[in-house]
Amino acid sequence: MAETKRDEAQSELYYKKERLKYSPEEEARLERQHFWRIIDAFRFYRAHVQEQIVRAERQFKSLSPHHQSLVPGVLSNLARISQCAEHNQKVLQAIIQNSLHMFENVEYYSEREDDPGKVRPSSTFDMDKLKSTIKQFVRDWSEVGQAERDSCYRPIIEEVQRLFPCDEYDVSKVSVLVPGAGLGRLAWEIAQLGYTCQGNEWSFFMLFSSNFVLNRCEKVNALTLYPWIHQFSNNKKLSDQVRPITFPDVNPQRLPDNSDFSMVAGDFVEVYTEPESWDCVATCFFIDTAHNVLEYLEKIWKILKPGGAWINLGPLLYHFENMANELSIELCYEDIRAAMVKLGFIVEVEKESMQTTYTENDRSMLRYVYDCVFFVARKPSGMHFKNQSDDQQQSLPPAAKSPRQEDADRFT
Ligand SMILES: C[S@@+](CC[C@H](N)C(=O)[O-])C[C@H]1O[C@@H](n2cnc3c(N)ncnc32)[C@H](O)[C@@H]1O
Repeated sequence: MAETKRDEAQSELYYKKERLKYSPEEEARLERQHFWRIIDAFRFYRAHVQEQIVRAERQFKSLSPHHQSLVPGVLSNLARISQCAEHNQKVLQAIIQNSLHMFENVEYYSEREDDPGKVRPSSTFDMDKLKSTIKQFVRDWSEVGQAERDSCYRPIIEEVQRLFPCDEYDVSKVSVLVPGAGLGRLAWEIAQLGYTCQGNEWSFFMLFSSNFVLNRCEKVNALTLYPWIHQFSNNKKLSDQVRPITFPDVNPQRLPDNSDFSMVAGDFVEVYTEPESWDCVATCFFIDTAHNVLEYLEKIWKILKPGGAWINLGPLLYHFENMANELSIELCYEDIRAAMVKLGFIVEVEKESMQTTYTENDRSMLRYVYDCVFFVARKPSGMHFKNQSDDQQQSLPPAAKSPRQEDADRFT
């Protein structure tokens, strides 16, 4: 898991660096290029898995007949893995089919002048990201992921309900932002309770997939994925590697009438510029995705309304750690906490040891547990905050603003 998360960041980083360097036109061109690179990755999946299978078959066949006869199920299991990959590819095709026109204000489809259906090879980076995205379906939208959601999302949801109880608030007017929303389940659960909730996500892998599950998958458990076929080590049984999961475990379309749920594409730091616009920001396994976590802290502070709350759960597995030429400020929790207090946050709830997993394969012989920190930090409701300059205080608008980001790409 640790390596996968790092690889994910590494690939995204290329995109980010390029964007920072160029003019708006060049930036738009690079974004289109990036969009198509991710589409290509979805298309290349089966060929990539097939390469692995062919290699495994070749290696097995190089064994002596005697050794081969000792483990007679290996080749048929590889054939089964190949069928599962074939099936996964069909789901991935459905996902990208629904992604080509998903953004309201950007049309990428016409940009591909050469054969738009052609399968192009993808990097190992992108293939790893795609495999992680497949596992994210287990975490967010399968029955198997329920225990993981209970350990990661449930504490956050309970705090939202405790801070903004429905008998005291018109919860439809309580706005909750979930940056780094992944496949959207946490944001969806909060919207399901009647709160206005917006997920924000940066990765096209996640955005394509969440768009598909949230908008195109009404029938409960109608779709199947084989998320563990890529794991050739630490299996107890052949059948563990090829076991399916079904999704979605609920109908994502089923939200309360008049519910206000949305997903916004883009970098959290760039998209959310409106000060004092959110009642609550909920981050789960997110703050360690920052180049500079202090930038996230400051942004959350700025966009929260006075009296608003930041709820966080997650580890500090810094995504950009040890990456050449990349800013990566790896603060320990103690320093993050001190910085939060200096900004003016009041830490109201704090647990330093919440054990959770992340896209865990519960039958694997290797399992990671994160010993997460969990906290609720409040931005006080008074207008005069500690360590804030007069300039900053004067620029704060007196009333909270709409949570809508009008010029951001939006779907659902
Ligand atoms: C480790 S995942 C956690 C996903 C989800 N919160 C969960 O708990 O399953 C972190 C997510 O943050 C997203 N992300 C990273 N940097 C981001 C940024 N600057 N703005 C928005 N999303 C970002 C990544 O694409 C990834 O989906």
